[in-house]
Amino acid sequence: MKKVEIKKGIYYVGAVDWNVRSFHGYSTNRGATYNAYLIIDEKIALVDTVKAPFATELLERISEIIDPSKIDYVISNHVEMDHSGALPEVMKVAVNAKVVTSLPSGIKGLTAHYGEYDYLGVKAGDTLSLGKRTLAFVGTPMLHWPDNMVTYCPEEKLLFSNDAFGQHYASNFIFDDLVNYDEMMHEAKKYYANILMPYGKQALKALEIVKGLELDMIAPSHGVVLRSHIKDMFDLYETLSKGECHEEAVVVYDSMWSSTEKMARAIVEGFALAGVSAKIYDLKANHISDIMTEVQTAKYIAVGSPTLNNNMLPTVAAFLCYMRGLSPKDKYAFAFGSYGWGGQGVAQVDEELTKMECQMICDPIKTAYVPSKEYLREMEQTLKEILN
Ligand code: FEO
Repeated sequence: MKKVEIKKGIYYVGAVDWNVRSFHGYSTNRGATYNAYLIIDEKIALVDTVKAPFATELLERISEIIDPSKIDYVISNHVEMDHSGALPEVMKVAVNAKVVTSLPSGIKGLTAHYGEYDYLGVKAGDTLSLGKRTLAFVGTPMLHWPDNMVTYCPEEKLLFSNDAFGQHYASNFIFDDLVNYDEMMHEAKKYYANILMPYGKQALKALEIVKGLELDMIAPSHGVVLRSHIKDMFDLYETLSKGECHEEAVVVYDSMWSSTEKMARAIVEGFALAGVSAKIYDLKANHISDIMTEVQTAKYIAVGSPTLNNNMLPTVAAFLCYMRGLSPKDKYAFAFGSYGWGGQGVAQVDEELTKMECQMICDPIKTAYVPSKEYLREMEQTLKEILN
């Protein structure tokens, strides 16, 4: 994408990463963007940078507008390297720039990554005048790192929200009304599930602050700029940050010889008998980050594994490790699986779900070797009774 003037004198100068398919383990099926913005005023400010491999692109885009050596401030809303990775290259050129970041976590984080610069530490409520425009800093600590902040420009009714309201969504358009709405909202939901879900309380608090601002545009550091669907995004964040769930179930499993798979199919039938919509996810065919996108709004989760070498399958262990890190709240759960002679796999699944403080709705459902048709029909009825 070329530079885009998103408001008079304010430019998108970031980079589109069309081909990235894994963002530290999160599957980015639609690519990603690292958004940076250049504000031309009496003082010139660059809001965030990009991932290191895109530094040249960033500087080329800036150079189409001004000489990068004229940058007065680099605003670093977040230390994580998808936003700060190009800072060393920018600072080689912007030799007089101050790096504006949160106090103390931003300075501590940037120093640990890149060393000393002319830092200007800011706290929530601090402002910086660029001339005609003001930048006001709003702390959003632990959303999702200690250093996170967002930057608000009241004269433009514009919020630079960094990770918040972002989507891993590559596009040749920068505005939300120019891309597919359903794709964009799905990627926002997936982003929340996989990046922000553990920080629901902080997200809700930040949302209340942001909703109190006069806004006609939100410029996140991933995905498209919001100018038409701000309310929809607020509504989505409110639902997700409150952990609101639907009367739905997600059945996640891996299977060796299809016995655990047969049980998974019986379980969705049992949910159907109880009037609960349920979806099956085979871990061989689905990415854990896509599964967690569905788990976040489902009331029920059932996780199945056979036993391999006295353990649950490694794919199931990896999913549960990932899920535990994201700390989904208020889930009703149970474990299931077939086994040959030990049955430790399903017991481990049950233990992990219990550690996550899921409400276990029944003891682990397990069967030796291959479940009979009668056993599967009995499972369906049992589940229906438990749910009713
Ligand atoms: Fe987009 Fe937390 O970095």
